[in-house]
Amino acid sequence: EKGNHRHFMQKEIYEQPEVVGRTLSAYVDAEAGRIRPVEGIDFAGMSRLLVVGCGTASYAGLIAEYWFEAMAGLPVDNDIASEFRYRDPAFLPGDAALFISQSGETADTLEALRLCKAAGLKTIALVNTPHSSMAREADVVVPTLAGPEVGVASTKAFTCQLAALASLAVLAASQRGKLSPEAVEAEVASLMAIPAQMNAALAIEQEIDQLATELAHASIVLYLGRNVFFPLALEGALKLKEISYIHAEGYAAGELKHGPIALIEDDVAVVAIAPHDALFAKTRSSIQEVRARGARVIAITDKAGADELDSEASAILKLPDVKGLAAPIVAATAVQLLAYYVAVHKGTDVDQPRNLAKSVTVE
Ligand code: F6R
Repeated sequence: EKGNHRHFMQKEIYEQPEVVGRTLSAYVDAEAGRIRPVEGIDFAGMSRLLVVGCGTASYAGLIAEYWFEAMAGLPVDNDIASEFRYRDPAFLPGDAALFISQSGETADTLEALRLCKAAGLKTIALVNTPHSSMAREADVVVPTLAGPEVGVASTKAFTCQLAALASLAVLAASQRGKLSPEAVEAEVASLMAIPAQMNAALAIEQEIDQLATELAHASIVLYLGRNVFFPLALEGALKLKEISYIHAEGYAAGELKHGPIALIEDDVAVVAIAPHDALFAKTRSSIQEVRARGARVIAITDKAGADELDSEASAILKLPDVKGLAAPIVAATAVQLLAYYVAVHKGTDVDQPRNLAKSVTVE
């Protein structure tokens, strides 16, 4: 079943171009250059979108918050399900709620969905399991087509969630009059380019494997990023701690000075997700700060970023040049592979990490 892969996780990482392409095709009408409307979802009439999930699914939701707010002008309120359901959330007229879950069975997310439904909100389930409880109970189901995910650490479900959410963000922007038909067409073209870009990103596997040998000895790994790369930093850190058992934390790069910089010393590694975008210079200065204090810095960037960071980072992972919605989806492959190879070098049980269950159906 694993084919020529050593672990399910590796197989699932490599399946991503295909399953992300399949998921995109469910939303994108490439020929017409538009996103297919989703029956039951009217973004124009929505005043706020609540987004709820756990773990990796919640990080997909956080990335989507940046997209929906910036592209569609749609206010988003994000929360993890275990907090949301117990904090007596307050609602506004025009609220809709989106629940993100690979399994569709996570207890806290399911209860959060029931709470919103009981409060009269429109409920939307973004799930990978079509016959799950969430799929049955939500008003609208938006599927991801990742296929069964066996590795306990989520990989392909995450990028498929992002692919669906990116498509919905374009739909929302178009329904809310924030993108002209021509601009939508351009977004559609860049969405359809993602699978090939992911393939190109996966080709840096050897370099990641090599880097991972050293990273396996780090005592702490800090992941830094800004904007959509902040939630991706959270996801990178979660992936690493889950399967390699190295203490890892994700931070918004701007938070560095507000505490975490105190951790920096020689055996601390920093993974900076820093493509050459509008915020590159700011992330670059964080890289300089941690380097000056002795951290080893791995920069995940693109060609333009690599040119500037050449003498500043300890190591550089160069991704294909990708901007916009595609960027965090493509960069996700690098953080997944990095965690995977560190775990392989440490010899941990990659597909069945200790203490973890694939689906958390009890709280
Ligand atoms: C991390 C991971 C978990 C899940 C979380 C939610 O690799 O797999 O954090 O993302 O338990 O699970 P679902 O998406 O099934 O609700």
